[in-house]
Amino acid sequence: MRGLKDKRVLITGGARGIGEAIAARFLEEGSCVVILDKDEAGCRDIKQKIPALTGTLVADVSNPIEVEQAFIEMDQMMNGLDILINNAGISMRKPFLEIDPKEWSEVIQVNLNGLFFIAQKAARIMLIGEGGVILNMGSTNGLMGYPFYAAYNASKAGVIELTRSMALELAPSVRVNVICPGYILTQMQKAEYTSEMLRDCEKRVPLGRLGKPEEVAALFVFLASDDAEFITGQYFVIDGGEIAGGLASQSPTKKL
Ligand SMILES: NC(=O)c1ccc[n+]([C@@H]2O[C@H](COP(=O)([O-])OP(=O)(O)OC[C@H]3O[C@@H](n4cnc5c(N)ncnc54)[C@H](O)[C@@H]3O)[C@@H](O)[C@H]2O)c1
Repeated sequence: MRGLKDKRVLITGGARGIGEAIAARFLEEGSCVVILDKDEAGCRDIKQKIPALTGTLVADVSNPIEVEQAFIEMDQMMNGLDILINNAGISMRKPFLEIDPKEWSEVIQVNLNGLFFIAQKAARIMLIGEGGVILNMGSTNGLMGYPFYAAYNASKAGVIELTRSMALELAPSVRVNVICPGYILTQMQKAEYTSEMLRDCEKRVPLGRLGKPEEVAALFVFLASDDAEFITGQYFVIDGGEIAGGLASQSPTKKL
């Protein structure tokens, strides 16, 4: 990809899963990468696993005081910021009628409020410097209704609209886009789905399998690169075709 060498990249939720794959891919492109994650042990492990990382920061994105401190430390590590990968997120699988207010707030606080805190800090730095790119992590759950994920769906729909609003206000210095993956096999999926449920998910994907974190990482580096310099304010779905047809694609006529 063009324009990623020596770029300073911050990746939230980068200690494992999709964030880890994104970190590895940016390093391959010659960027400097700092990971911010609330998992202290995970941060230690990832620094050992990927020694080329510029550094790791232990912070909870949903806590503005921790975010403030983490940005001070990040600035000492990289002296600025060119690309933010706003990836940290949590999921909760529960019937709508059983979600209690604390659980609802927790999901919104991490996935939407936390993403906002980080994006605002990053944008302020980018606007003082030479501009930059912010890529938010959405989901197909922010575009379609999925039962048992009311809080998660609402948080990701919020991220999509926040992305559009940010793109309008931060142009032309900062490009802002949102990536919406479908089923990607990570800890998040393994924690919520049995093997049988995962096989069932595969059947609903036209390409016949779950996605890999590396495939999502490839889309992130493209959108951060100069090859995407006319792209802002958009969402990008990467889901093996899952939401292309909706329920209509499951009609018996598919078997003709
Ligand atoms: N896996 C999927 O199928 C899928 C699909 C669509 C979207 N996503 C989104 O992609 C992102 C990454 O998901 P994943 O599958 O890699 O999940 P994961 O659970 O494997 O990894 C999430 C990482 O984020 C960190 N994190 C969680 N809450 C945090 C907080 N408050 N502050 C700082 N770090 C925090 C965790 O410690 C972990 O390292 C999430 O936003 C998720 O909603 C995942």
